[in-house]
Amino acid sequence: MDAKVISLLANKPDTLNGRLQVLHECLRQSLPQITHSSCLLYDEKTDSLKKFLSSHHFTNDGYEDSLRLKPNQALFTLCQQEEGKLVFFDADEPVWQHFKQDPQSHAAFIIPIKQGQRFIGFVCFEMVSSPDNLTDPAKITLSLYGQFISMMINEELSLVNTLLATVRAARDFTDFRDFETGLHLDRMACYARIIATHLAKKHRLSDEFIEHVYLFARLHDIGKIGISDTILNKPGRLDDDERSIMKTHVIKGIDMLEQVLNDYNLVDMRDTDMMRNIVACHHEYIDGSGYPKGLKGDEIPLEARIATVADIFDALTCQRPYKKPWPLDDAIAELEKMQQANKLDAECVAAVRENKAEFEKVMKELSDDKK
Ligand SMILES: [Fe+2]
Ligand SMILES: [Fe+2]
Repeated sequence: MDAKVISLLANKPDTLNGRLQVLHECLRQSLPQITHSSCLLYDEKTDSLKKFLSSHHFTNDGYEDSLRLKPNQALFTLCQQEEGKLVFFDADEPVWQHFKQDPQSHAAFIIPIKQGQRFIGFVCFEMVSSPDNLTDPAKITLSLYGQFISMMINEELSLVNTLLATVRAARDFTDFRDFETGLHLDRMACYARIIATHLAKKHRLSDEFIEHVYLFARLHDIGKIGISDTILNKPGRLDDDERSIMKTHVIKGIDMLEQVLNDYNLVDMRDTDMMRNIVACHHEYIDGSGYPKGLKGDEIPLEARIATVADIFDALTCQRPYKKPWPLDDAIAELEKMQQANKLDAECVAAVRENKAEFEKVMKELSDDKK
């Protein structure tokens, strides 16, 4: 790798996206025809590809249905290869249009990225000029950059996956598993992603931010691992004493997260702040009546406001030992009531209302009946 690239990266932009931007600028010095670099991540569970990193911010208009891998023969073939492929947006398969983020670009060089043998996504280099002049040396340069981006992503993803696996293992050994099922966490993470995507344009949220909200939202209640099963599984309402014990799950969660971050030497990992914020603030309310700190309005980080609405929506619409699932419209009405009482973030609640069909789809696809 070029010494200049290494020295630029040594300044350590704090996000993966920042590092991709540095690489993109370096790449343009040798290949000015490349106007945009991006990366899509593959989610095996849902067989979908989602935008993850992007060298430029192109506005994101609302929720976009993700792209499925297996039903698209051209995509599926490419993901099994080692080398990249040059595609023309107008002339080739329509599926490649999903990779086009720069409105000016005409073609792209798309490279599959892997973690060992496992396919994890694509790196895409878009270009404006006629790609007929993309020489073999240029393709080699792009492949090298693609590999470097893939290494960066692999490194971060293995840290995050280690963390999530540890939490999952801890959960599986406790009664917490019966209370909050994996499906609750999966649904809630999907809802959080829909809300974050809806807010992306106004708050200029990157795809990386959205993806991290999705990954980290499921950590929100890790502190419940430390709450006794008699309280967690109590069929009726909790009394005052039990409720105050239940509320300690937030502080317990923060302690637990710090412990895991310490054990794995991840304390300084980028984006751990987002994990901390979600765990620490998912019971804070806009009017300051939440816990543990009674933060108000913008003092509550956006990722936590998103997680709170996603979590309450799922609590309302799923079955719990003490309640039946609420219909979708009733759940939205309840969120609106809480927002009018200044408990929930208005934009996050509007995101639920305006993406009702997407919420309904997640409710059906990840329903507890499918366990
Ligand atoms: Fe909680
Ligand atoms: Fe929850």
